[in-house]
Amino acid sequence: MTDIHNIVVLTGAGISAESGIATFRGPGGLWEGHRVEDVCTPQALARDPELVHRFYDLRRVALGQVEPNAAHQALARLDAEWPGDLLIVTQNVDDLHERAGAKRLLHMHGELKSALCAACEHRQTWDGDMPPGTVCAACGTPAVRPDIVFFGEMPYAMDVIERAISRADLFVSIGTSGAVYPAAGFVQTAKYHGARTLELNLDRSEGSGWFHESRLGPAGTLVPEWVGQMLA
Ligand code: OAD
Repeated sequence: MTDIHNIVVLTGAGISAESGIATFRGPGGLWEGHRVEDVCTPQALARDPELVHRFYDLRRVALGQVEPNAAHQALARLDAEWPGDLLIVTQNVDDLHERAGAKRLLHMHGELKSALCAACEHRQTWDGDMPPGTVCAACGTPAVRPDIVFFGEMPYAMDVIERAISRADLFVSIGTSGAVYPAAGFVQTAKYHGARTLELNLDRSEGSGWFHESRLGPAGTLVPEWVGQMLA
């Protein structure tokens, strides 16, 4: 591993599956029984704020019933012990990476435990329910919404992520279907800049052919093995 200094790790719903959080593209193709356009678009929020807020309220509550698994813990260990640069980019809106102890972490699709004011963009940590019409503590507008990147909105911190990927020696994708851009394109960017690319997933992702190597199996097994190799 002597030629590897900079690592970027991308995680998706599959890393939290063994903690008991459902992935998005399961057999039914629904998110907890909802169509994506009913709960994860700006139009849905405008049309039916009760439904959208309730959907995320339930998912926020559900975080209290789950714990980080061996894969989150292994990445936190890598974060603590890897001497080079590391950036963990998660598409997940749960808080399991940080509860496992990861610090070098970005939530590119937002966070369940954060609230965003649609009027002034003030953010605050959030626990419990978030009724529609909640007033922003900073500007007083009743425009507080879940701090989730909806379809059609720009993912967060793209400049930081793209800079890290352009400098990466190794790009590792864990538990993501490769169905949602821009994250699905990170492997191509990493490869273009000369990184080695590795996929750890239960089955082949849509972009599997872009990776130098694919290891197939549960993240709770594959990630601790890979981290062990990196830190050996
Ligand atoms: P998906 O549900 O699309 O894909 C989950 C992937 O994890 C699949 O490829 C599964 O095979 C794999 N998987 C399932 N269980 C696993 C396990 N135990 N170990 C390893 N892999 C496993 O979820 P994402 O790719 O994260 O966006 O979805 C990307 C984005 O789509 C999400 O961030 C979300 C959604 O729209 C927003 O919320 C904005």
